[in-house]
Amino acid sequence: MLELVPTADGSNTIYNPEVGENYHSRNGALQESKHVFVNSGLCYYLQKSSPLNGSPSGGDLEGALAVSILEVGFGTGLNFLLSADLCAEKKIDLEYIGIEAYPLTKELITQTGYDQYVSADTWQSFINNYEQSLLSPIKIHPSCKLQIANCKLSDFQSEKQYDIIYYDAFAAARQPEMWDEAAIAHTIRFLKPGGVFVTYAITGNLKRALKALGCTIEKAPGAAGKREMLRAVKIAS
Ligand SMILES: C[S@@+](CC[C@H](N)C(=O)[O-])C[C@H]1O[C@@H](n2cnc3c(N)ncnc32)[C@H](O)[C@@H]1O
Repeated sequence: MLELVPTADGSNTIYNPEVGENYHSRNGALQESKHVFVNSGLCYYLQKSSPLNGSPSGGDLEGALAVSILEVGFGTGLNFLLSADLCAEKKIDLEYIGIEAYPLTKELITQTGYDQYVSADTWQSFINNYEQSLLSPIKIHPSCKLQIANCKLSDFQSEKQYDIIYYDAFAAARQPEMWDEAAIAHTIRFLKPGGVFVTYAITGNLKRALKALGCTIEKAPGAAGKREMLRAVKIAS
């Protein structure tokens, strides 16, 4: 049975005893989500793609008008909630699709306490629309669309490519098939040229696979408890 457990920064995560894994780092769910996905992924992409980038005032998040994010392993939706709030604050349109093979119940998500970390509007609209978002795309804010693809990563198909990929699968030790070359190649097909892939993990195999798929890779400082994480940018063709 899934269990709600506290992490070091006071935020909760979920423990899955069948897999033997937590949904987030026990060193802090909130800090991991903010550091790995929001700051090192979304903010990095927005700064990189800002028309002001390189100007004397430096990168500015206000430049981008729209961004699309694909998440592998939607889980509780914490990465979505923090990203949606940031985009609303910066007046950036967000299109977000999360792939999730085993969706959590709305009741369990409601118990996470993640309402503390986002605006009341974002939280309430997410909770109200969560079940519908498993069936079809739905507006969470006027400028934020969410869809959860209820399927395995290997079965996911899309005509579209995305600006950013949040790769948040369970660790390779528990779910090696989510980290093999086939899974990474399948995922990178959905990344736009110039798009950014981020994940909390960094391994030699992952680096080699991403390089072979035409990405430049970068070791970025890791979230609490981890020295490094991986960021890759798909080389523009
Ligand atoms: C580390 S957790 C994700 C945590 C999530 N991003 C959050 O903030 O709560 C990994 C997620 O991957 C999902 N998952 C497991 N196998 C999958 C597969 N083959 N395809 C898609 N999702 C999968 C799990 O159900 C779980 O929700």
